[in-house]
Amino acid sequence: ADLYCVMGNPVAHSRSPAIHARFAELTGEHIAYERRLVPMDGFAQGVRAFAAEGGRGCNVTVPFKTEAPGLATECSERVQLAGAANTLTFLADGSIYADNTDGLGLVADITRNAGVSLAGRDVLLVGAGGAAAGVLGPLLLAGARHITVANRTLAKAQALVQSHSALAALQKAELSAQDPLALSAHFDVIINATASSLSGGGIPVPASVLRPGALAYDMMYGPAAQGFLDWARQHGAVPRDGLGMLVEQAAEAFLLWRGVRPPSAQVLREMQQSAT
Ligand code: ATR
Repeated sequence: ADLYCVMGNPVAHSRSPAIHARFAELTGEHIAYERRLVPMDGFAQGVRAFAAEGGRGCNVTVPFKTEAPGLATECSERVQLAGAANTLTFLADGSIYADNTDGLGLVADITRNAGVSLAGRDVLLVGAGGAAAGVLGPLLLAGARHITVANRTLAKAQALVQSHSALAALQKAELSAQDPLALSAHFDVIINATASSLSGGGIPVPASVLRPGALAYDMMYGPAAQGFLDWARQHGAVPRDGLGMLVEQAAEAFLLWRGVRPPSAQVLREMQQSAT
């Protein structure tokens, strides 16, 4: 079997091994997919050791996504925009290709699994850290008409908008940065990319941003997403957690590595059923 892994710190909680194992089972691909815990200062060494063992590729999770592009021989445009990579591919000539499938996964989950079109929509992206940076490019490419990036620290939202301004112009999309407390517009899709619930903070935006029936998406899943999703439901929005994004970003990585698109919607349904 060809060897893959997810590398992070911590990594024990990662559901990627189970997802990739199920993809392999359903597609008949022969892969082994492991967890690799690497020390905080040992990411580069961990990647090199894994490649030397014959690893064919690895997913990268916290806190190494921004360090990953620096190890690559070549980076996709998505990685250059996001400044972060979640998927490394070790090629036969020893080179390393870095890609970022997080944004593709988010867009696939919103459009295919939730059935919500992004074309022509007004989108609010809350947060301006690594999670937000990883998805802004693909949201623009999905045809959103207007994307507002709102973040507690406004300067970080402004920097993210600045780094994506050329792509926004190309897509004829409006892109702006806002202070979350000063938001007055209403949106069709609101995406929570903050770590607010983990840090014990409240909901990072006023409920007035939600159009009736708006999709309120939290990029996290499980207890970390619950506060945001309850708030969204209470205010007439349709809540959705990030489990589908997790499965779809894995599917994009699997496709990149194996050349086969796994039945991700089926695997997501199985995971949703086993969670209830
Ligand atoms: P990640 O890689 O998960 O995005 P990060 O880069 O640390 O992690 O970014 C965390 C995001 O959550 C930031 O947008 C952060 O806002 P600041 O840039 O102002 O720090 C946001 N965040 C974290 N705790 C928050 C809270 N209590 N309220 C609002 N936003 C919060």
